[in-house]
Amino acid sequence: MFAVHLLAFHFTKLKEDQITKVDRFLHQLRLSDDVLQDVAARFQAEMLKGLARDTNPTAAVKMLPSFVRSLPDGSEKGEFLAVDLGGSQLRAHQVRVSDDGKQSSQLESKFYPTPKEVTQGNGAELFDYIADCLSDFMDTRNLKQKKLPLGFTFSFPCKQTKLDEGVLLEWTKHFRVRGVQGTDVVSSLHRALQKHQDIDVDVLALVNDTVGTMMTCGYDDPRCEVGLIIGTGTNACYMEEMRHISLVEGDEGRMCINTEWGAFGDDGALDDLRTEFDRELDLGSLNPGKQLFEKMISSLYLGELVRLILLKMTKEGLLFNGKVSAALLTKGKIEMKHVSAMEKYKEGLSNTREILTELKLFPSEEDCVAVQHVCTIVSFRSANLCAAALAAILTRLRDNKKLLRMRTTVGIDGGLYKTHPSQKCLWGETPHTHSPKCLWGETPHTQAAKSVCGVKHCDSLEYGLKREAQGQATVKMLPTYVCGMPDGTEKGKFLALDLGGTNFRVLLVKIKSGRRRSVQMYNKIFAIPLEIMQGTGEELFDHIVQCIADFLDYMGIKGARLPLGFTFSFPCRQTSIDKGTLVGWTKGFKATDCEGEDVVDMLREAIRRRNEFDLDIVAVVNDTVGTMMTCGYEDPNCEIGLIAGTVVAKWPLREGSTYVEYEKMTSGMYLGEIVREILIDLTKQGLLFRGHISESLRKRGIFETKFLSQIESTCEDSIIVKEVCAAVSTRAARLCGAGLAAVVEKRRQNRGVERLQITVGVDGTLYKLHPHFSRILQETVKELAPQCDVTFMLSEDGSGKGAALITAVAKRLKNQNNN
Ligand code: BG6
Ligand code: GLC
Repeated sequence: MFAVHLLAFHFTKLKEDQITKVDRFLHQLRLSDDVLQDVAARFQAEMLKGLARDTNPTAAVKMLPSFVRSLPDGSEKGEFLAVDLGGSQLRAHQVRVSDDGKQSSQLESKFYPTPKEVTQGNGAELFDYIADCLSDFMDTRNLKQKKLPLGFTFSFPCKQTKLDEGVLLEWTKHFRVRGVQGTDVVSSLHRALQKHQDIDVDVLALVNDTVGTMMTCGYDDPRCEVGLIIGTGTNACYMEEMRHISLVEGDEGRMCINTEWGAFGDDGALDDLRTEFDRELDLGSLNPGKQLFEKMISSLYLGELVRLILLKMTKEGLLFNGKVSAALLTKGKIEMKHVSAMEKYKEGLSNTREILTELKLFPSEEDCVAVQHVCTIVSFRSANLCAAALAAILTRLRDNKKLLRMRTTVGIDGGLYKTHPSQKCLWGETPHTHSPKCLWGETPHTQAAKSVCGVKHCDSLEYGLKREAQGQATVKMLPTYVCGMPDGTEKGKFLALDLGGTNFRVLLVKIKSGRRRSVQMYNKIFAIPLEIMQGTGEELFDHIVQCIADFLDYMGIKGARLPLGFTFSFPCRQTSIDKGTLVGWTKGFKATDCEGEDVVDMLREAIRRRNEFDLDIVAVVNDTVGTMMTCGYEDPNCEIGLIAGTVVAKWPLREGSTYVEYEKMTSGMYLGEIVREILIDLTKQGLLFRGHISESLRKRGIFETKFLSQIESTCEDSIIVKEVCAAVSTRAARLCGAGLAAVVEKRRQNRGVERLQITVGVDGTLYKLHPHFSRILQETVKELAPQCDVTFMLSEDGSGKGAALITAVAKRLKNQNNN
């Protein structure tokens, strides 16, 4: 046993030493949050430059109009062919889109190689080859007798003036075919196809792969408005407002813009971030000085970048005893597939040894650890940069829509994204925080927590539901009097209040029914100062009414007596939908004279006191219920609402009340404090900070949850602190998952079914922003409730909207009853 520990210690030490060595050598490749924010800002400026007619000619990022104006609306049908050139392989597809209500699209595909003779030969040969492949595909699919329309995915920068025409501006990636630049590729393909007498295809559209990806995803998800490729090359497209595209006539609607972001930096805009390795790689490439952003990101280049780094480290005596092999000196010997294999979670180190041995480098244990870390740093930078540019696009989309927060979908494809062990995680934070990062790390499961928590929670649920237990039950199981879900007929204008999350918000929600069914929201966030949160009840409600008055003024609707839904995210005992007695404050609220009172009455009284406007308070709801309703509006299977939120831990904790104990172990507000307590403890035991407890560590609330999320995602921070954070948040996610598992399992048993398909509407910053919380939560539910197929539906700011929907449903049901 002792030997095992010694070995483990030795390995940890060895790992740390190697990691420090590589970190020091590659410090220029480690990009901080600030730098990434700056990259995003620079890319925003580049987009503007590319979009405007007068600056476009000199812009590096070309922002090419695609002449695709709308996303598929599901009414498309028929049979199509597609040929796809520019990724790692040439692909031919048969696409059948059926309009049978299920919106299904079937795909048959065949892949063809693109050898060097094709990618670096002459134009006529290239287009003949594509036509030959297509003819072969039609042969194998028995399609030769049919006349079919063809879509041509051509993944290179093309200047289009219409959908079926595109002049190649420049070859990129591994293509350099003579005689094509400056010509229309659609007519070249058309000419080559005409040589095949036995087939009859009509080239209808030319699209970039990013646009194709966005359209494909848009077919399933109408919210998709960005297409992204991270493969051999990298690029993104998005839907831009026509009024901002001065290169195309017309101001109405939107058009998809192919950004060609691979060329970001070609004018020197990223020179300060490019390293000697980037410069060397560029000089040895097919297109020096071009596609500089792409060369830091995409799979065609990352292997070579790793090779150049290893070569320099070896020459400096930092690796392989200073001995360079012929293979290490050879361009292209390390490919992306090797980098991915070396970074694999479990087999990574043995893969590294194998790959280095094949390169005749005779690696030691230390060498393997160091090389693996080099790969990690190169991939991290790739994912970070990609996410920074994506954040810029998302910010632009959000600004275009004049929204404070935005819910959107990004369609994504490409070998690097799909197969690299950690590329995917870059999504964790991007859309919300604009400080994108790549995060990884697996946390092992604890079997014990699983069984104990699951069962215990289930018992508590049963107990809480019993009438005689309501007084003592710790899990209160409070009835909400929300009895109906939205059925799509709700309409009108509603006000909503959302109190109890990170922010206090007042919202105006406009609901449309019928074919133009939609929910539009306008909202304003108001601060609630600490002295009000902990002052008297009257002061708190007067402040709330003051905020409402301000909002009504701001929206110009003071005269209208609108129905109001009040999201009040504290435990309330309800006797009807518009009556809720506060059981007890949680989350830092402590206003006096509220516990035991009906909060709707308190709000009505405050409105009366102000005597400036009147409102029809229809419903009081918890944020979980609001979230469930919002998701239920989209997905009728949604029967559960969950909040895993963060309230910044700057308020003193409330001690000694039983009903918040579970929350203290799971919600964002408390996790930072738990971490601080543990760090103090470890320091007292001499295990951290040389036993010295600093003044700031003594201060309550120094660890905000967002800080906790960041610590888990950076390598520089002490391994111990990182471990503590990981342990605390994993426990929170596991406990939350156990509770949820009990709830879904109960639904399954109540329904008496073998398997249950159920959707959980979920919201809260901890769920949305923490790098691992959502994954661990979902895995726990899967483990503990194996007979339930649970879909998690993220509801952005849903509880305000939900309160309005509940109000709308309540109004509808009331009208029905009256009738
Ligand atoms: C494919 C798309 O899935 O991904 C192509 O169909 C795209 O259009 C390609 O070019 C990009 O990935 P890779 O790794 O093949 O370059
Ligand atoms: C290159 C091409 C671009 C393509 C991308 C991904 O950047 O120039 O058109 O979308 O690679 O394949």
